[in-house]
Parts: sequence; structure tokens; C-alpha cells
Amino acid sequence: MILQASHLSRNFGGLKAVSDVSLDVKEKEIHSILGPNGAGKTTLFNLITGAIKPAAGVVRFKGGDVTGWPPNKLAEIGVVRTFQRTSIFNQLSVLENVALAVRSKRRISYRARVSAALDRSVNDQAAQYLERVNLKRALNTLAGHLAHGSQRALDIAIGLALEPTLILMDEPLAGMSCGDRQGIADLILKLRDDLGLTVVLVEHDVGIVMSLSDTITVMQNGGVIADGPPVAIRENIRVRQAYLHGNYAS
Ligand SMILES: Nc1ncnc2c1ncn2[C@@H]1O[C@H](COP(=O)(O)OP(=O)(O)O)[C@@H](O)[C@H]1O
Ligand SMILES: [Mg+2]
Repeated sequence: MILQASHLSRNFGGLKAVSDVSLDVKEKEIHSILGPNGAGKTTLFNLITGAIKPAAGVVRFKGGDVTGWPPNKLAEIGVVRTFQRTSIFNQLSVLENVALAVRSKRRISYRARVSAALDRSVNDQAAQYLERVNLKRALNTLAGHLAHGSQRALDIAIGLALEPTLILMDEPLAGMSCGDRQGIADLILKLRDDLGLTVVLVEHDVGIVMSLSDTITVMQNGGVIADGPPVAIRENIRVRQAYLHGNYAS
């Protein structure tokens, strides 16, 4: 297991947002956390990525205890989350946005006056990440002018620039058109297949999750109701009940 969350809990007032949740993520898998709105998916994600601290439970990455580590410290050891646009500087070009992340990874101050050669190598590397997410044609576009789907792709490129081994994404497909969704879904597959990354995906689109995932953990009311490969999840009676009014009756 590359990532193991054991018995995580977190309340908000009297509400058990996440209650005794365990998650075992295998290396180089796409592991999705699926569940209806309010199930606790984002809270679990925030507990794992250090945005909030668990009241109980342990998070291990490659066997080491990383419970409560802040995002920057997690990024240093290869655990990176995407931020759904909040990490994007609209007034900078697409290339500059990724170059900033490359500089941060290489610990070069963004204000440092660096040599032209170093500048070029940073930009070349940034361009490679953009090629990975099919944004190379938009290098010089202002990030704020990108279409929604492309901003998500840029967000992923910024994440890649931090050289993760494990990348976590909270609803990367939210609010996207159908075509854009497929584009990002294909990109997520490439992260696993071409870059060998492990992906933890929080998503409530059942169809996408079924088609992308190696393993699915289904949450409801703060707890795990099912865990397994898509075929097993599809047949699981508790999952079917949770989605009684949902969109997969097939
Ligand atoms: N910061 C918070 N303060 C109070 N309640 C919260 C907070 N964050 C989430 N919740 C509540 O916890 C529950 C789980 O929310 P969340 O993890 O966002 O679910 P999901 O991502 O599955 O939709 C919901 O009932 C939500 O209202
Ligand atoms: Mg959520």
C-alpha cells in the first residue's frame, strides 16, 4: 500500500462528517472515493491532505506516519493535491503558472534573478508538463482566459510540476461539459499509465468513477459502505440503495 488511512474520524459539532474510515490505496492505482453529496468525501480528502486534522486515526504514506502533515510538507515527499483553480494566477500565462511551480519545486525564489540558462530550463520543464496535459498550444495564453476544462488541465500540470508519486483530486470534473470531462478522464488515465502515478479521486459521477477506477471506496453518512473493484461495487446492494435515486440502475 502506498497510502493507508486507518480509522479516521472528524466531527463538526455534533455531526460525524467522517467516522472510523479506513482506506488502503495500492501503488499505481486509480482509487476513487464515491458517494452522495454530504457523504464526507471532501472531509476525508482534507484529513488525508493535511487541510484539517483528524480527531482520531492515522495516515501513512509508504509506511511512514504523515498524520496531520501540512500540504507543503506532504508535497515534499510526493503527495500532491490539485486545487481546482485556486492555485492558478489568472494574470500570468499558462507557461508562467507552471514555471512558478517548477521553481518552487527546485526552491528557486520567484523573484530571484536567475541565469537565462536556468530560466530556459525551468520553462522547458514547464512546457513538458503542459504537453502532458495537452495544453502546449496554449503556453502563452493568459490563464484567466482559458476555458474551464483547460483550467482544470492547467491545475493538473501545476500538480505534476511538484513531481508527485501520489496525486489527489477532489472532483476534478465538477462543472465541466461532457467533452471536457472525457478529456480530463483520459488525462487521469494517462497519469497512471504513462507516468506511473497513484491517483486518489473524489468524485460523485458514478459513470466516470466506474470506468476509470481500479478500486472504489463508497461513502455514505461519514462511513464506508463498500470497498472493492468496480464490478463488485456495481453489484453491491448497499451501494445500490445509496444511489436509489441516482443515475445508475444498469
Ligand atoms: N467545515 C465544516 N463545518 C461544519 N460542517 C461541515 C464542514 N465541512 C463539511 N461539513 C459537513 O460534513 C458533512 C460532510 O461534508 P463533505 O465532506 O463536504 O461531503 P462530500 O464531499 O461527500 O459532499 C456534510 O454534512 C457537511 O455539511
Ligand atoms: Mg465534496
